Amino acid sequence: MNKANFTFHNDVEIPKIGFGTWQIPNEEAYDAVTMALKNGYTHIDTALAYKNEENVGKAIKDYNLSREEIFITSKLPAQIKGYEETLKAFEETVTNLDVDYLDLYLIHAPWPWDDMGKDCTEGNIQSWKAMEKLYNDGKIKAIGVSNFEIKDIQALLDHCDIVPMANQIPFYVGRDQEDLLAFCKEHNIVVEAYSPLATGELLDNNDIKAMANKYEVTPAQLLIRYCIERDTLPLPKSTHEERIVQNKEIDFNISEDDLKKLMEMEDVRK
Ligand SMILES: NC(=O)c1ccc[n+]([C@@H]2O[C@H](COP(=O)([O-])OP(=O)(O)OC[C@H]3O[C@@H](n4cnc5c(N)ncnc54)[C@H](OP(=O)(O)O)[C@@H]3O)[C@@H](O)[C@H]2O)c1
Repeated sequence: MNKANFTFHNDVEIPKIGFGTWQIPNEEAYDAVTMALKNGYTHIDTALAYKNEENVGKAIKDYNLSREEIFITSKLPAQIKGYEETLKAFEETVTNLDVDYLDLYLIHAPWPWDDMGKDCTEGNIQSWKAMEKLYNDGKIKAIGVSNFEIKDIQALLDHCDIVPMANQIPFYVGRDQEDLLAFCKEHNIVVEAYSPLATGELLDNNDIKAMANKYEVTPAQLLIRYCIERDTLPLPKSTHEERIVQNKEIDFNISEDDLKKLMEMEDVRK
């Protein structure tokens, strides 16, 4: 990879690829995270909602690296909105992970998952103020959001002090979210690409397979490299060691012409 880290607007650095842990049950999370650490990942992405923080934290603790060498992200559950509620959920997360601080804490979504699109602006503002307090108290190195659209971020910019350092969004070939990407860039917000393989759905795509062959890489490697080429931070997830290794070996460049072709592809999930 060209540069190993992205730098947030507060100068905190975040490794340019992270290990995703959504849908890894707590019982499997210890082995999966240990495999990721063993194979050079130093950035782990979890959430209270994934119900695996306990074993994610245990794997990190048992591994032979100091806390400062590992970057841990967790998230405030999407349905929890409000100042006190946020402080409480944060405590639960750091207790589960058994850590003194988090590297990055995100509002998981602007609305509850079972009521997507609901206007929770006031709740998000109150949650953000609590996150600002935790940040100012030194309990979190960086704070951000996830699944936020431009209007959701704008509400925080209008009513709060700290500009989010990251926005974690679904980003993969066919789902580029150009306007949101440009808005984040303008405000110095790092875009994290979640589901970089479209949760696996892009891996069998014939165009992706053909282009991957040309570069002598796997479809997964092409898709993850694409995120880097678009200046986003990919968070691939796997519980298989050979894939965990492969997903990090993405030190090649995609030509301008091929990038253009990828940018023109339709969203396979639509
Ligand atoms: N903020 C949010 O709301 C949000 C939402 C979704 C995801 N995320 C984050 O983003 C991470 C990744 O997204 P995701 O879990 O949707 O999926 P993803 O990384 O796009 O794809 C994962 C799927 O691809 C398979 N896979 C991984 N590497 C492979 C390879 N090299 N070859 C073949 N198959 C491969 C995995 O299977 P195996 O595991 O069996 O190998 C799994 O089925 C999550 O784990 C989470 O941390 C965040």
